[in-house]
Amino acid sequence: MRDQAEQLRMQMLQSQQKLGRSIAVVSGKGGVGKSNFSMNFTTTLSALGKKVVLIDMDIGMGNIHILLGKTVPSNLRDYLVGEKAIEEVMFEGPNNLQYISGGSGLSGVMEWDDKIFQRLIEAFEYLQKNFDYIVFDMGAGATSQTLDLLVSVDDIIVITTAEPTSITDAYSMMKFIYLKDPEKNFFVLCNRAFSEEEGLDTTSRLKLAMSKFLSKEIVVLGSLPEDPVVRASVKEQVPFSILHPNAAITKKLKLIVHRFANFIVEETNVPNQSTFISRLKNLFSRRS
Ligand SMILES: Nc1ncnc2c1ncn2[C@@H]1O[C@H](COP(=O)(O)OP(=O)(O)OP(=O)(O)O)[C@@H](O)[C@H]1O
Ligand SMILES: [Mg+2]
Repeated sequence: MRDQAEQLRMQMLQSQQKLGRSIAVVSGKGGVGKSNFSMNFTTTLSALGKKVVLIDMDIGMGNIHILLGKTVPSNLRDYLVGEKAIEEVMFEGPNNLQYISGGSGLSGVMEWDDKIFQRLIEAFEYLQKNFDYIVFDMGAGATSQTLDLLVSVDDIIVITTAEPTSITDAYSMMKFIYLKDPEKNFFVLCNRAFSEEEGLDTTSRLKLAMSKFLSKEIVVLGSLPEDPVVRASVKEQVPFSILHPNAAITKKLKLIVHRFANFIVEETNVPNQSTFISRLKNLFSRRS
């Protein structure tokens, strides 16, 4: 009897462990490089053999498909309003990466009613079972719905630049999420750093502020340099990690991806239960 119970417990643990991690890439201030980072981060994670899906949460103004040089026939909005199935809005990017476009051209402002929220939960349940990592590239403006999503995900990657306005906004964003969920994992990265020192100074400041004012330890992922390779790759519509595999920025990105993946394996010893979905459901039930 005990053996059977133990077996069942192990089976449940194993199936829980298989659930993908949900990660949101955010910033306080807009335009700091979230989409380019998300694109290259997920492409690099996929190259490690992980099953990754990238979701462009900039609905109506998405640019992931543009960064990939693709025209997509359907996007997240089509799924959310019930016109398409989730499999129909997923497309293949480099290294087997799957992505869901946010769509462009602002095809009508979307009302996030209960039905849409329910669709979102169903999509995430499916994605968690089928992918190792579900990465959300968050849009520029924060809405109450996207903030709900941020509070629900497992991990938050905060992108900042070295500008004081960007740093203070990054802090405010982390504080907002932290106050709703003090257990959240925060990872911080300085993008467009002009030197190694500038990157380190920026991330250290944020780490110190979180520790001093909120007693919260966060993980420094490192920095990515200001590099003309990024702009050139945007113009070519190919991720820089693919177009320029030997560029300094690509090498640094690889280190960051390894640091992130190792942290997930080493530090997060709690089996990855479906907390993401249950947190989302809680928010959903509180609204209705
Ligand atoms: N490391 C870098 N070096 C040089 N240019 C960069 C770097 N990272 C991003 N950029 C440039 O910054 C601009 C904004 O990047 P991106 O669109 O990725 O930002 P974002 O945070 O997603 O913006 P939004 O908040 O509008 O969604 C792009 O033109 C891109 O080429
Ligand atoms: Mg963006």
